[in-house]
Amino acid sequence: MDTQKIINDIKADGTYRTLKNITQVSGKYITINKTNYVNFTSNDYLGIGQFNLNLEDFQTFSKQFSNTLSSSRLISGNSVVYSNLEKSISQSFGFEDCFITNSGYDANLAVFNIFKDEDVVVFSDQKNHASIIDGIKLSDLNKVIYQHLDYTALEMQLKQYPFHTKLIVSDSVFSTNGNIVDLQHLINLKNKYSNTLLIIDDSHGLGLKLFDSYQGIDILTSSLSKAWGAHGGMILSSENIKTLIINKGRAVIYSSGLPIFNLYQLMTNFQYVISCNTRREKLLDLSRYFNEQYQVLFNHQVASLSPIKNIILPCLKSTEKVHTYLYDNGLFTSLLRYPTVEVPTLRISLSYFHSKKDIDVLLRLIKNYIQGVV
Ligand SMILES: Cc1ncc(COP(=O)(O)O)c(C=O)c1O
Repeated sequence: MDTQKIINDIKADGTYRTLKNITQVSGKYITINKTNYVNFTSNDYLGIGQFNLNLEDFQTFSKQFSNTLSSSRLISGNSVVYSNLEKSISQSFGFEDCFITNSGYDANLAVFNIFKDEDVVVFSDQKNHASIIDGIKLSDLNKVIYQHLDYTALEMQLKQYPFHTKLIVSDSVFSTNGNIVDLQHLINLKNKYSNTLLIIDDSHGLGLKLFDSYQGIDILTSSLSKAWGAHGGMILSSENIKTLIINKGRAVIYSSGLPIFNLYQLMTNFQYVISCNTRREKLLDLSRYFNEQYQVLFNHQVASLSPIKNIILPCLKSTEKVHTYLYDNGLFTSLLRYPTVEVPTLRISLSYFHSKKDIDVLLRLIKNYIQGVV
């Protein structure tokens, strides 16, 4: 294998990726190479990840529960802290049970494992997250990909599999474009077609209260590394589904559990997620403001009130140029490219720390660049 040739090919395709060394994230700023940038890339939408941990409290906690159990949850890594937290989370979100995983990625791998070798067909939105795609693949499940948010197409496909168990799976908030699922529509379809389960990945919605309730969802997966501001993942479901996850979820069975410090942070941040209404409202207001200003400056309507916004420019080169131009002007945004997205995309993530002025500056710079004013 000629590794250098492969790297050169990636570069030639324009999909070459590198890591940036971040020294700090503080409020709305991120420090890269000793320079502060306004950070439009964070998934810590409510800023909960930046609350200081009470180290004295943690010391007492770790004396009681140890630092690490150094084992898979199925061997001896299942701290009682897990069980207590899972109970509180499932009650709070209205599910029978909850299972905490090491990441949102693992949650999706484990969920699809339980359907392996069963007579199921998965109906998956075209823009679902890579962990859903990988989960379906690793469990070797039959799948039908429906056009993004096209529920008419989905229904036509559902009709064709009357005798199979059908799994409809969708992100709640799509990570690459910020679109929000029509949850009620999917619940109606699930109820209309017998033997159908609804699986929602709520990684970018959890904690933002974008939905009135989760009733009607059979399995809800999520990262806990976004608005929850910690690290981990979870699966909310019935008790039986949880039992199957424990028995069949390879990412759960064959990987060590989380250290106690991590569980402590998940537990602490849970209380913030529940209570931080003011932060949620501010974020929603910023999202609304972004949409209004975007309409004014670009004559393009953005309907979604999620904190993720995407801007599509004519080609990869122009997207790269705008991304670099913003960076040179002190704003850090995400540049998404193939295979994450089909079309190169500039992704803007809003957070509680931003102000309306930050949005004005961002949009004005993009507009200036596009108009060739600079
Ligand atoms: C929709 C979605 N699902 C799952 C994941 C994976 O979560 P984690 O980063 O906790 O592995 C992500 C994160 O990138 C995501 O955006």
